[in-house]
Amino acid sequence: MSHPNQKKRYLWPYSLATRTALLLIFGMGLIEACGLLINTLDRLDFNRLTQEQEAINRATAIYRDISEMDSKDRVDEINDLDPIHGFTIFLSNQPNLHGINPPSPKLEQTVSHLLTTILFPPELRPIKIIAASDPSTHKNAIAFQLPDDKQWLNILYELTTPNPFKSATFPISFFVMATATSFLTLWGVRRLIAPVSTLAAAAERLGQDVNAPPLIESGPKEIAQSARAFNDMARRINRFVNDRTQLLLAIGHDLRTPITRLKLRSEFIIDPHLQKKFISDLDELEKMIDATLAFGRDNTNHEPIINLDLTSLLQTLIHELQETHPDKCDQIELCHPLPDITLKARPISLKRAIQNLMSNALNYGGNVSVTLTLKPPFLSLHAQKNKHVFIMIEDNGPGLESKDLEYVFEPFVRMESSRNRSTGGTGLGLSIARNIIRGQGGDITLHNRDPHGLYAVIMLIK
Ligand SMILES: Nc1ncnc2c1ncn2[C@@H]1O[C@H](COP(=O)(O)OP(=O)(O)O)[C@@H](O)[C@H]1O
Ligand SMILES: [Mg+2]
Repeated sequence: MSHPNQKKRYLWPYSLATRTALLLIFGMGLIEACGLLINTLDRLDFNRLTQEQEAINRATAIYRDISEMDSKDRVDEINDLDPIHGFTIFLSNQPNLHGINPPSPKLEQTVSHLLTTILFPPELRPIKIIAASDPSTHKNAIAFQLPDDKQWLNILYELTTPNPFKSATFPISFFVMATATSFLTLWGVRRLIAPVSTLAAAAERLGQDVNAPPLIESGPKEIAQSARAFNDMARRINRFVNDRTQLLLAIGHDLRTPITRLKLRSEFIIDPHLQKKFISDLDELEKMIDATLAFGRDNTNHEPIINLDLTSLLQTLIHELQETHPDKCDQIELCHPLPDITLKARPISLKRAIQNLMSNALNYGGNVSVTLTLKPPFLSLHAQKNKHVFIMIEDNGPGLESKDLEYVFEPFVRMESSRNRSTGGTGLGLSIARNIIRGQGGDITLHNRDPHGLYAVIMLIK
């Protein structure tokens, strides 16, 4: 059956498996992204520290080289130095930090500490160190006052912070992790949720066949429990249906004896006219009981469900009807286009149900026209696309009053106008037909045609 809210919520998926999987994948993706982010920020910190330390080491090394040489050679030496990326080195009389701000006592301390720890000859140590560091531009400056000529060696350098988000590692690791989790989640959720679909399929099967085989009662605890409960329910339904049928058979059978007795006794009726009427009523009663018993027996002898070619079944039925009613050949037709449809059904009962409706149309309407279609003939028939098949049996007769369209399905109900011998029914035809079709998961409904006539719609599950 179609879901009532189907139109409104087209973005949110229907299947429980998809919903659960989406939720899990989204959650895990978020967690993965957070994890990767934390990791990357950590690495960023570490990189910056290493870079800082390297730059300080390098500046110290430069100072050492310069301080070790003769004061007059220093300018040439600085010019001859291999250019270092991001470094500016020059001598001046006054410290020149190129306006880099604010002063950084921490950097000063680090440098002077370094100079004391690396076994630097004390006489070469700078008189004074001034340092500055601009955190927004990552520009740094260190000025060393040389001990001999009191000149200042200024070293300016810029730290480049690498952007880890630009590197391919971040998106690649995210992609690999996300794909792996998605696959695992989909697989896991599908496995977990599969029994729910099995249960749904079993419920649907039970609708088509009360004798459908039971579910396997294994798997996780809750699933096994549900399967057990479902099987219990199916068994009870089955027993209920069978008990009713047995009761029907027993009643029908027991009614025969008194009827036979009445028939014998009717011989003592003196008025021949009354006697004739009496016997005719008893005959009708007997016919009704026979029909009931036949129906009960049909129901107890479980016909197997097979793959049935519905199209050729209808063709056969039309031919048979034409053969038995050669005078009405032209009034019996199968409408085109005729789709090719096969479905699972009990062929003999289905044939009987369709035959009942076709002979009703012919008897009470005077003609039969049969249509096979996949399209629901009404909007009110809440049918699912591609799941249901419809057989329409129409006639141009008088039709029925709308209040009787449901009523005629009740057992032994015949309309007053049709109480004539020629049509000869017992009023069980429609009840039997509906019982058969409902027993296979479908339904039959009657409708009036415009301007007159009746049509029956048989809905079957494909
Ligand atoms: N196509 C039809 N047109 C008019 N009346 C119909 C049609 N089909 C069924 N009926 C009415 O419904 C009653 C019940 O039909 P059914 O259950 O088949 O019993 P039966 O054919 O044995 O009378 C019929 O007696 C008839 O009055
Ligand atoms: Mg009938």
